[in-house]
Amino acid sequence: MLSSEAIKISNICCIGAGYVGGPTMAVIAKMCPDINVHVLDNNESKIKLWNSKDLNNLPVYEPGLSSLIHECRGKNLFFSTDIKKNISRSEIIFMAVNTPTKTYGSGKGMAADLTFIEKCSRQILKYSKSDKIVVEKSTLPVKTAEKIKSILGNSNTNINFEVVSNPEFLAEGSAINDLFKSDRVLIGGESTKSGISAVQTLCRIYSRWIPKEKILTTNVWSSELSKLVSNAFLAQRISSINSISALCEKTGADISEVSSAVGMDKRIGKYFLNSSVGFGGSCFKKDILNLVYLSKFYGLHEVADYWHQVVKINEYQMNRFFLTILNNLFQTVYKKNLSIFGWAFKKNTNDSRESASIYVSTNLLIEGAILNIYDPKVESSKIINDLEFALKNHGKSKIEISTIINSQIKIHNDLYESVIDSHAIAILTEWDIFKELNWKRIYKFMVKPAFVFDGRRIVDEFKLKKIGLNVFKIGS
Ligand code: UDX
Ligand code: ADP
Repeated sequence: MLSSEAIKISNICCIGAGYVGGPTMAVIAKMCPDINVHVLDNNESKIKLWNSKDLNNLPVYEPGLSSLIHECRGKNLFFSTDIKKNISRSEIIFMAVNTPTKTYGSGKGMAADLTFIEKCSRQILKYSKSDKIVVEKSTLPVKTAEKIKSILGNSNTNINFEVVSNPEFLAEGSAINDLFKSDRVLIGGESTKSGISAVQTLCRIYSRWIPKEKILTTNVWSSELSKLVSNAFLAQRISSINSISALCEKTGADISEVSSAVGMDKRIGKYFLNSSVGFGGSCFKKDILNLVYLSKFYGLHEVADYWHQVVKINEYQMNRFFLTILNNLFQTVYKKNLSIFGWAFKKNTNDSRESASIYVSTNLLIEGAILNIYDPKVESSKIINDLEFALKNHGKSKIEISTIINSQIKIHNDLYESVIDSHAIAILTEWDIFKELNWKRIYKFMVKPAFVFDGRRIVDEFKLKKIGLNVFKIGS
């Protein structure tokens, strides 16, 4: 390897002030007080919220985030829509824009939509006046760096753009802790002199708080692929345990006991073996579909089919849960009040992307149920948007969607109000408050026979059964 010097950094910026950009930059600002960190977004209202005095209303809810913002904002952490000025003055530019699955054209439903990445690259090209290190933070298909480089290479100037892959491994709900105490930081770069220098520069930043042995440097493609594969392996564990939950329900085995027994083997490990109604979030499904698309592209159809099955089992699990509700409620939920506990895809986040709640609720709405929805953090407008989008995907017309939204959905701020006259409660997010409910009070409000469908295995079924509730717990 060539030896190369790290570059001195005074300003860095991040394009995309979302779930990745916001928390990641807040932690970098905290750990690097001598560097000005600028978080940029073209969504003005989002930037306004990041800058608002009300720290309870930040666009991203993450435990520990608001106190970091309070500490660093205005000192060396800035939120802005001025993309031109901040690209121009930064030595390092992080790209943390959204990369959803394509909803149109070739690769529809599988490949990543790189529209935002392309736009972002063109902005960098347009506003740069000096050499830049461009860092891929968003999860991207393998070989995206090549595409970014080909856009940036179209400059008539002598500016050098060094594209580095530095995938984010934070999990929402524990992002701040994950960023401070990362299992590893992965940095992929080219083995040219300027490539090595860019990697060293980034290493120097992270090494202020991450032990050196946890900073792994690789080539660009290994780094991009490792991110997809990490998420695929994590999701595979959930689909594996969820497939066994179906078998437990048939045989009388209990999924918690099975997962404890299996996880005690050090080679397997105890983490990520909680059976649930299905995994959600912006990454798992998207990244696996990306892997499937990539494998197919290279003619590796068996590999593609293998990983695709992880997503299919997840859909099977969500559908199984929906059918359990329907079948237990005497095959009809038409005009019945049902309560939905939890909209976020997991606890401690206000993010609902790909949440199992959306899948289960949409199917219940199509069956004619009236849904009373409660979530402690997800905004009503987001819930409505999610449902509108899902109903559209089910082929519902604009008029049908608006009728369903107006007549079949009620969003509640008070959990106990949401169960009045309810036939059943479906627990879809594992929020801690759902573990400490006054079930006697809830039971009184409900229509009898009253049902609880626990998609997160958090209620004490014996206690609830004693009160009079019928309880279905996934995997038991
Ligand atoms: C994931 C990866 O964990 C993270 O490293 C990557 O950077 C982004 O994708 P995230 O999607 O934020 O993070 O949350 P994660 O904790 O992985 O949970 C994903 C989904 O799996 C959630 O819906 C969660 O409830 C579900 N899950 C997780 C289970 O159903 N069972 C488990 O045992 C663990
Ligand atoms: P993630 O979970 O990957 O962080 P989010 O959707 O939460 O995804 O955040 C991505 C952010 O990137 C959004 O706030 C979006 O407005 C912003 N964004 C996308 N493209 C651009 C762009 N070209 N310039 C500035 N901001 C952008």
